Amino acid sequence: MTARPKAELHVHLEGTLEPEDMVRFAARNGVELPWQGPEELRAAYSFTGLENFLSVYFQGCQVLCIREDFRELTVAYLQRAAGQGVRRAEMLFGPQAFLDRGIAIGDQIGGIVDGIDEARETHGIDGALLVSAHRHRSEDDALELLELVRPWRDRVVGVGLGGAERGNPPSKFARYFDAARADGYRTTCHAGEEGPAAYVAAALDECHVERIDHGYAAATNPDLVARLADDQVTLTMCPLSNLRLHVTDDLTTYPVKRLLDAGVPVTVNSDDPAYFGGYVNENYAAVTDALGLTEAEVKTLVRNSFSGSFAHPDELRGAL
Ligand code: HPA
Ligand code: ZN
Repeated sequence: MTARPKAELHVHLEGTLEPEDMVRFAARNGVELPWQGPEELRAAYSFTGLENFLSVYFQGCQVLCIREDFRELTVAYLQRAAGQGVRRAEMLFGPQAFLDRGIAIGDQIGGIVDGIDEARETHGIDGALLVSAHRHRSEDDALELLELVRPWRDRVVGVGLGGAERGNPPSKFARYFDAARADGYRTTCHAGEEGPAAYVAAALDECHVERIDHGYAAATNPDLVARLADDQVTLTMCPLSNLRLHVTDDLTTYPVKRLLDAGVPVTVNSDDPAYFGGYVNENYAAVTDALGLTEAEVKTLVRNSFSGSFAHPDELRGAL
């Protein structure tokens, strides 16, 4: 698995912040953390669900303060991903938590694109940035985010929607996705992680997104599964995340295999690897072991990762 070339389509840059780096950035920026060191941090990574996880994740975000932090975070993840055979990495990043703390959007995105350029040079990996809005905030906030990001339009491939899902259906963000499309962004939306299958359908019907992040709940609805297969909608699934956030308690029934059998273009990704106990290859290993996936099925997952990516088809020649 290590050397097998693949794309990763669902990873939050902030979720790649390893405990050692969190402690190091906190010391360098004079930020106090409620945890004493990396071991105490790792011990705290026992989550009851998505919202409980997000509260820890946003505390971790507080150590990221200056442009250099965003550059180092990006390079560290891309180097690690390249070491796992990732050739193309589409990284979600949510500026709103940092804007709240007065960190200029130019320091955030500037640091990330510096990191992307550096990693392309040194590790040959094709990193791409997707800006993600928080669904627990308002749609007006998300529209404002698009305005703030406009100067970096040529360095941001797409936009997404993350955060606390329950009670925040995709329909709340229909205008945000319309505006993003009008600006030429590719679109993806978290749906069906803790929310119901209806949220997956709403992301397609009301927000017209191209890809679904997670989509776990879609597997409960045969009509929706048939539609995802017919329309070849890529699902970016994250098994270790779903396990750690109790979306599922048993990977032996994880729907990746059933969805593959139904012809849905499923992919395997890490989500927030520093918090969930594994990068992309550990996620492949977890589902392969639990479901006894065949070599042909793993090949299909890998092929789906490239075909579902937002890279220009010319950039993918040779990978498919
Ligand atoms: N779900 C929703 N929002 C997120 C996640 C997630 O798993 N990780 C970071 N932001
Ligand atoms: Zn996610």
